[in-house]
Amino acid sequence: MTTLKLGVLTLSLLLATPVLAGAAEPDVWITIGSDALVPARASFQGQGLELPSVVREKDGVAVLRVPASQVEKLAEVMHSKLNRCAGFIAHDSEAQALAAVEAGATPRVAPALVSYTLDNAATVNALLPQVAESSLRSTITSLSTSWTSRRYNQQGGLDAANWLKSRWTTLAAGRADISVAFFTHPASTSPQPSVILTIQGTSLPSEVVVLGAHLDSINVSGSNLSAPGADDDASGVATLTEVIRVAVAKGYRPARTVQFIAYAAEEIGLKGSAAIAAQYKSSGKNVVGVLQLDMTNYRGSSYDIVLVSDYTTAAQNTFLTNLIKQYMPGVTSTSTRCGYACSDHASWYNQGYASSIPFEALMGQDNPYIHSVNDTLTQTAGSAQNSVKFAQLAAAYVAELAKGTASTALDTARP
Ligand code: BES
Ligand code: ZN
Repeated sequence: MTTLKLGVLTLSLLLATPVLAGAAEPDVWITIGSDALVPARASFQGQGLELPSVVREKDGVAVLRVPASQVEKLAEVMHSKLNRCAGFIAHDSEAQALAAVEAGATPRVAPALVSYTLDNAATVNALLPQVAESSLRSTITSLSTSWTSRRYNQQGGLDAANWLKSRWTTLAAGRADISVAFFTHPASTSPQPSVILTIQGTSLPSEVVVLGAHLDSINVSGSNLSAPGADDDASGVATLTEVIRVAVAKGYRPARTVQFIAYAAEEIGLKGSAAIAAQYKSSGKNVVGVLQLDMTNYRGSSYDIVLVSDYTTAAQNTFLTNLIKQYMPGVTSTSTRCGYACSDHASWYNQGYASSIPFEALMGQDNPYIHSVNDTLTQTAGSAQNSVKFAQLAAAYVAELAKGTASTALDTARP
């Protein structure tokens, strides 16, 4: 698969078989946000070119068949006209690219695997006050300053995975029901492994609750440039790490199995999560809910928490809204659209699992420093305060979806 960072839209392309035997140039299938068609066409015409015609359009996504020689031109246009850092993704087959368009942002009814009840207040209220800005800050600092980049195919990306596995293993010390492992990917996909911490469920171990964030970072101006990725997505990994720390500190034992996953290679097209979600699906794993944490430490809007409404599951989004109302007084929330498969929640959604992503801002008001050398903790005045509410929401989500209890024996636990 090829991924190019372009504009606000996600494009999918793949090499199509040449129509004519012996044709020198293959065509490329592209999916493009319909709203990009007008500026793209105008720009092509300005250069004496004709934008290839639309072969299909659905839910704001258009399918184009483009001569390979014009793909780069389209990339330039997208970059200059829609100047942001979405990528285009090549699927492994034409069928996959078309399926992605069909899946689009069409709401799916996920199987009703769980009922979203709020009846575990004792556990929620044991966990939430333990969330500490200082430990969130410590993880963000380590991840964003220890290596030049956590890029999926650089040493820093591998070192960060080793560091995280070791950190999570330390946090889990003394708990025989918790294990930490790498999920390795084919070297051609991602030399960086994903990292998975599993808390075995006590009474419903085959039902799995997944919380994820991505471990890799990127600098779209050049692969050798510094990519601290403090917000994108050290903040999400720190949020997971803080939920783990608090859960262990409070002796929390879930009824369902809970997995915390730091995905490899998100920034080059959701590669790590796509592989994991596909493997879980094909092996029949009963994942009852997925929560993605990608960018939690930058307050971009007046709302505290913004739920992304596309490529996510409405019933679980409502559950999250109810958790905020019930357990986080004073915290405001609303919803927004990414407009494309913008993070790892989409990999699970595309496999039919219930998936959500609580985000730090309305789209368009999100952190402008991501994917650059400037995505540092300095942008948030050296504080991880904004991530506290996301760690609290994630802890409440675990306590109410995986249920189980916390003990009060370790009340004095501190970060
Ligand atoms: N954290 C971003 C996604 C994001 C950015 C969401 C800004 C909302 C606002 C994620 O790491 C990312 O960069 N995703 C890519 C798409 C992916 C398929 C490569 C993107 O948005 O360009
Ligand atoms: Zn990113």
